Amino acid sequence: MDENEVEKLIAAAQEARLRAYCPYSGFAVGAALLGEDGEIYQGCNVENAAYPATNCAERTALFTAVAAGCRRFRAIAVVGGPQGQDAQEICPPCGLCRQTLAEFCEPKEFYVVLCSAQERLVLTLDELLPVRFGAEGLPQ
Ligand code: THU
Repeated sequence: MDENEVEKLIAAAQEARLRAYCPYSGFAVGAALLGEDGEIYQGCNVENAAYPATNCAERTALFTAVAAGCRRFRAIAVVGGPQGQDAQEICPPCGLCRQTLAEFCEPKEFYVVLCSAQERLVLTLDELLPVRFGAEGLPQ
């Protein structure tokens, strides 16, 4: 990924973050997922009064993309922190989101861009989820 693409993806994640629905945690997260089709799919966290029904920003972006017909991805940018403020810390994807992303990418070639006001960290999904369950673990 070149620097332009990274900047564009971060800007899209920051924009999506403004649409977070997070009245319970007050923690707003935005994600932007780059498809192999070149499209950027945005997502935000969507909370619920029944707390476990909450959807993270990363999975919102992924499900939006899959519903639009894209199933392979190159990278995701994630920005999260207290609502209404610039993100002061990076927001690493939760375990459920890491597993969900692994279904639709090549983990060694998929980049996760974590961005705060002070920091930028780029890791592969393989680094974030080195030992993972996949379809090959299922009976044929
Ligand atoms: N959240 C995300 O959207 N993505 C993450 O990777 C971590 C957590 C959301 C879920 C919930 O709405 C809020 O952040 C606090 O956990």
